Amino acid sequence: MPRYLVTGGAGFVGSHAVLALLDRGDEVVVLDNLTQGHRAAVPAGVTLVEADLGDSARVAEVFATWRFDAVLHFAALSIVGASMREPLHYISENVAHSLRLADAAIKAGCLRFVLSSTAALFGNPDRVPIDEECRIAPSNPYGDSKRMVEEGLAWASRIHGLRYAALRYFNAAGSDPAGRAGEDHDPETHLVPLAIDAALERRPALTVFGEDYATPDGTCIRDYVHVTDLAQAHIAALERIETHGSCRYNIGSGNGASVRDVIAAVERIGGRKVPHSIGPRRAGDPAVLVAASDRLRAETGWQPRHGSLDDIVRTAWAWREAHPQGYADRP
Ligand code: UFG
Repeated sequence: MPRYLVTGGAGFVGSHAVLALLDRGDEVVVLDNLTQGHRAAVPAGVTLVEADLGDSARVAEVFATWRFDAVLHFAALSIVGASMREPLHYISENVAHSLRLADAAIKAGCLRFVLSSTAALFGNPDRVPIDEECRIAPSNPYGDSKRMVEEGLAWASRIHGLRYAALRYFNAAGSDPAGRAGEDHDPETHLVPLAIDAALERRPALTVFGEDYATPDGTCIRDYVHVTDLAQAHIAALERIETHGSCRYNIGSGNGASVRDVIAAVERIGGRKVPHSIGPRRAGDPAVLVAASDRLRAETGWQPRHGSLDDIVRTAWAWREAHPQGYADRP
C-alpha cells in the first residue's frame, strides 16, 4: 500500500488531500504543528506527528520511522497581507522549512515531492487567463517565498533526480461534499467563509475591498476552485511525476467570479442577505486572477467535478452551518 507524508495535513487544503488519499486506500502520515491546523481535522486511523518543520531532528526521525512514496507539502505561512507586514519571517520560514524538508526526503531516498504553490507567483499578471508561461513576478513576500521554493526544487530535480510537482493554487474554497472536512482559519481572511458567516450573523458585516477596479462590477475577480477538485489535482500530479517527471501546473476552475458574484451566490444558496459595506482597496490585491488549467487537464485528464461557484458555496455553507465553532465542535 502506498504511504504518503502530508505536511500541513490538519489544515484546509491538506486535510482534503488526506481524504482523497484515504479514499484511494493509501496510507497517510500527517506532520503538522497545529498552529493553523486542527487535530480534529485528522481522520481516525491516520498517524499525526505533532511537530514543527523547523525541528530538523524530528523531521529526520519521521523519515527514519517510515518509508514514504512521496511527500505532499502543504504546511506554510499563507496569508498575503501578513506577509506584507512580516516579509522576512514569511520568506525565511517558508523557504527554509520547505527546502530542508525536501533535503530530508532526498536523504531518506524519497524522490517524489508535491508542493503547494500559489497564483501569487504571478503578481499583476501580464495576461489572463494565467497559463504556466506567464511571467513570474510576485507582488508580495508570500508569493516570492513560493517562487524561491520552486527554484530550489528545480535544482534538486537536476542534481538529485527529485521528481516534483509545483501546484499553483488559485482561490481554494468549498468543503468536502460528504461533510468530513471544512474551512476553519484563525484569523479567517478569506472571502467565501467571511461572506457565509456574515449571512449567518456570526460575524460583522463583510467589507468589500474596493469597487473601483477595472472589472465589469468594479470588484476584484478571482478563480474559486473547489478544494476537493484541488485535492484530486494532487493525485493526478503524483501519477504524472511517476510517468513523466517534474511538472508545474496552474490550478483553477477557469471561471472568474467577482466579489459581488460571490455575495450573490451566498445569498442565493443560503437564502439570506449578506450584510456588507464598501471599503477601500486591500494592499496588494490584483484586479483579476483567473487560471488557465489547460495543461493540467491535457496532461493528466484532471477535470473539476465541483466546478461551479454554487457547488463551492453550497458545500462551504453546509459545513459552516453544521459547525458553528468550526473544528472546535468536534471531539
Ligand atoms: N475580499 C473582500 N473582503 C474580505 C475578504 C476578501 O472584499 O473581507 C476580496 C479580496 O479583496 C479579493 C477576494 O475577496 O478580491 C478574495 O480574497 P481572499 O482573501 O479570499 O483571497 P486572495 O485572492 O486574497 O488570496 C488567495 C489565497 C492566497 C493566494 C491567492 C492567489 O489566500 O494564498 O488566493 O489568488 F495567493
